[in-house]
Amino acid sequence: MPALLEVDRVSKSFGGVAANVEISFDVRQGEILGLIGPNGAGKTSLFNSISGAVVPDSGEIRFDGQRISGLPPEECALRGIARTFQVVRSFDSMTVLDNVMVGAFARHGRARAAMKLALETLAFTGLASRADTPAVSLSPAEKRRLEVARALATEPRLLLLDEMLTGLTPTEAQAGVALIRAVRDRGITVMMVEHVMEVLLPLIDRAVVLNLGRVLTTGAPGDVVRDPEVIRAYLGDRYAAA
Ligand SMILES: Nc1ncnc2c1ncn2[C@@H]1O[C@H](COP(=O)(O)OP(=O)(O)OP(=O)(O)O)[C@@H](O)[C@H]1O
Ligand SMILES: [Mg+2]
Repeated sequence: MPALLEVDRVSKSFGGVAANVEISFDVRQGEILGLIGPNGAGKTSLFNSISGAVVPDSGEIRFDGQRISGLPPEECALRGIARTFQVVRSFDSMTVLDNVMVGAFARHGRARAAMKLALETLAFTGLASRADTPAVSLSPAEKRRLEVARALATEPRLLLLDEMLTGLTPTEAQAGVALIRAVRDRGITVMMVEHVMEVLLPLIDRAVVLNLGRVLTTGAPGDVVRDPEVIRAYLGDRYAAA
């Protein structure tokens, strides 16, 4: 399968902190790719570069063969890249429907078309019954879903999920897994950051492991979790014994 996203020697520093150092890997069309690594490894920083929130200091990011690094977030969204945020960013005073319409307006200028798409997206994400609820009243799990719904309403080809399943109960996390599978079944490529290995490993096709801003290894999920370097840097004894 051809690469949908190519991350090519991307580096980004903040002051003296090297958040990403010469990062290279591909995301293939149609896959679910897991991005894992310890706190501060550079996962969210990389999402910021891919979605246009920050500009890498060097290197290049290509989407569908075209350079996107340096483009503003709106342009990355128009090209087909959507993301959720590790700290949820819903507009609290607005209804769930209006939150999702913010995403839909990225591609549909007319309110009627945006509303139609937003309602479809709410149905798909299991939030239809909450459409008229202020976002502030949602449960934590529903807020995570709303993030996904707003991102999906931009009609992406690539969806970046930053710890969408973190802090959920096991039942809620399994429902989140089902939603991610359904997203992929719609033909949307998924790249996700997640710390909960038990949930992540059965879901992803491949894993990229970051440590200290660099790629430690890339491979099949079952292989990377047995990699001694990954165990030392991230998983520790808790997974080595499993
Ligand atoms: N805007 C910023 N300004 C200053 N430093 C930053 C900024 N963004 C990220 N960093 C630093 O870059 C490093 C990588 O952070 P990043 O948030 O990408 O890690 P992460 O892998 O997402 O971690 P976590 O698992 O805790 O979310 C950290 O040392 C962080 O403090
Ligand atoms: Mg992060």
